[in-house]
Amino acid sequence: MVGGAGPGGGDRGRPAGRGLIGPFGGGGRWAGRRGIQYHEENDPRYRHAGIDIYLGSRFQGQGAGREAVALLARYLFEQRGHHRITIDPAAANDQAIRSYTKAGFRPVGVMRQYERGGDGQFHDGLLMDLLRGELAGNL
Ligand SMILES: CC(C)(COP(=O)(O)OP(=O)(O)OC[C@H]1O[C@@H](n2cnc3c(N)ncnc32)[C@H](O)[C@@H]1OP(=O)(O)O)[C@@H](O)C(=O)NCCC(=O)NCCS
Repeated sequence: MVGGAGPGGGDRGRPAGRGLIGPFGGGGRWAGRRGIQYHEENDPRYRHAGIDIYLGSRFQGQGAGREAVALLARYLFEQRGHHRITIDPAAANDQAIRSYTKAGFRPVGVMRQYERGGDGQFHDGLLMDLLRGELAGNL
């Protein structure tokens, strides 16, 4: 399932766009936070897209995250015309950081107390980005 801004670039004039691809492990329907989504900043000075992904536990650790992120990144570069894509895992999320690094993302820096967790406390996030041409070659 793909929804939101969609291919073809017909809505590039909007201030921001977003889309969803899924489900992953939702039994054939969108399942809460599970899936992969993107948002777009379309201010010409800062234009880029950001990705967020959440796999069901039984789909994790098999390369699906790396593959899904790479697939969406390719779509955002080739179909949406972006030159830069960001992703912002928790700084302590070693599995996510490893997965995104293998797709070609590089660490930019730690965003301190960036995201409030289930424990009610703010935790650090790691900003990572990927430029056109840096996507890992075999993905
Ligand atoms: C983060 C997520 C998308 C990664 O996708 P994935 O399919 O599980 O990850 P991949 O299989 O592509 O890659 C994981 C890598 O991390 C490694 N890894 C696993 N657990 C690890 C750990 N605790 N510490 C370090 N590396 C770890 C794996 O060995 C693998 O590396 P390898 O291919 O060199 O062996 C997925 O785990 C997920 O959805 N998690 C829950 C939600 C979440 O954290 N989302 C992140 C929001 S930005």
